[in-house]
Amino acid sequence: MARISKAACIGGGVIGGAWAARFVLAGIDTKIFDPHPEAQRLISEVMANAERAYKMLTRAPLPVKGTLNFSESLEEAVRGAEWIQESVPERLDLKRSVLAQIDIAADPKALIGSSTSGLIPTDLQRDMKHPERMFVAHPYNPVYLLPLVELVGGEKTARAVLEDAKAKLATVGMTGLIINKEIDAFVGDRLLEAFWREALWLIKDDICDTETLDNVIRYSFGLRWAQMGLFETYRIAGGEAGMRDFLSKYGPSLSWPWTKLTDVVDFDDALVEKIAVQSDAQSGQRGIRELERIRDQNLVGIMQALKAGDEGRGWGAGRLLSDYEAHLWKTAPKPQANPAKEPLKLLELRVPSAWIDYNGHMTEYRYTQCFADASDALLQMVGVDADYVKAGHSYYTVESHVRLLAEAKLGDALYVKAQLLPSDGKKIHSFMGLYRASDDTLLSTCEHLMLHVSSKESRSVPPLPAVMMKLKPLIEAHAVLPAPDAVGRSVGQRK
Ligand SMILES: NC(=O)c1ccc[n+]([C@@H]2O[C@H](COP(=O)([O-])OP(=O)(O)OC[C@H]3O[C@@H](n4cnc5c(N)ncnc54)[C@H](O)[C@@H]3O)[C@@H](O)[C@H]2O)c1
Repeated sequence: MARISKAACIGGGVIGGAWAARFVLAGIDTKIFDPHPEAQRLISEVMANAERAYKMLTRAPLPVKGTLNFSESLEEAVRGAEWIQESVPERLDLKRSVLAQIDIAADPKALIGSSTSGLIPTDLQRDMKHPERMFVAHPYNPVYLLPLVELVGGEKTARAVLEDAKAKLATVGMTGLIINKEIDAFVGDRLLEAFWREALWLIKDDICDTETLDNVIRYSFGLRWAQMGLFETYRIAGGEAGMRDFLSKYGPSLSWPWTKLTDVVDFDDALVEKIAVQSDAQSGQRGIRELERIRDQNLVGIMQALKAGDEGRGWGAGRLLSDYEAHLWKTAPKPQANPAKEPLKLLELRVPSAWIDYNGHMTEYRYTQCFADASDALLQMVGVDADYVKAGHSYYTVESHVRLLAEAKLGDALYVKAQLLPSDGKKIHSFMGLYRASDDTLLSTCEHLMLHVSSKESRSVPPLPAVMMKLKPLIEAHAVLPAPDAVGRSVGQRK
């Protein structure tokens, strides 16, 4: 895949800072140029939120973080970068001049994306010498979590550049959707603008306050939109009669008097004040960073739920997350199946806040998840990777006995070690321990049995020779270790 190894962010505000976080967490060395006196502090806060969100988002092996450097000049920042992302304020004159500066200083083959929310690329690329590699790459906030980038080419943009940008974005967990024609505000912001106008009317006319309006969205169609968008949702609304019936039923309402979409509300001081006061009453008790963390945790939860959608194949943004995780597993350095005579260290992690229950400890099923993730790591180690599974073979867990011995708390660093017990490789019988890293306290154990299967035939078969070659030496090396005391315990047995 078309990996980016060096990136530059010109402008490091809300959007530029979050682009930088996205790049750095994807293992890309990134330079930022932003003359704002507090740029470093602001970006380090965004980075901290992004890292926190990623810890909750995925257990896939994230690459070693890229470096993050603040440059003294735009020229220094873009030198050697393969992807340059412009995210300066939304003013055509400023963006044109910044893009022209980037154009002169950058490698002629470097891709140059603009984060603009609405300016068209033909206007932006006007003063560039190599405009063919410039395009709009419009992301959504928070850029480090939301996967969409609208890719829009101008008159001088090469189509191959958009395809290249799309391929490169996939390697940082984003999806580039190429928009057919350039148009002010592209697709997403046009929809949002229409929605925004109607919302402003509803507030101005005292139909409801900001909190009621937000509740209407988040308790209803906001939930639907995250998973099926507009047309697929309406298709269902048409019932068995389908989309044609839906359109014939609701089409006429477009000309009913209740839509004010084409009238622009008078955005006067009174309306600004009204919205600000209502918004303060609604959300003013929490700071922006706190709201960001709540938003991120909710988004992570939604994306994880969508990952389980469509019977585990993943749906919408959940499918994209699953594709990104598959990419991370594929590109991560393979852990070596070192057949030493000692238990294997399979997993290291830190307990995130989403894993804490009402008792203030790591919730019960997360212990099981740690062991499931450790088993996956063991399988990766012996060559049971995404390709192996896709080709029709896998190991299924058939039995598992977890003991909870001590509590893990928020932020604890944990690790899992596994001893392989004697087995023929068609079965993998293991005994795993979950430890607290600070004092090596054993927190939980799991005796685990997996069976190799042909998923197409739905029956147990021996593993393919390549897997057996790695697995057998591990089982043999561990055969000399004494069996842990708790092997074969029954539930409820006294210590
Ligand atoms: N905020 C959003 O939700 C959102 C979403 C998608 C796209 N965008 C677009 O992203 C761009 C940036 O928006 P933002 O919300 O991050 O704005 P922002 O005001 O938070 O950040 C802009 C940053 O650019 C810096 N800057 C100004 N002049 C510069 C220069 N000459 N060189 C380098 N840096 C310079 C500023 O110091 C500031 O830190 C805009 O084009 C906006 O339309 C914003």
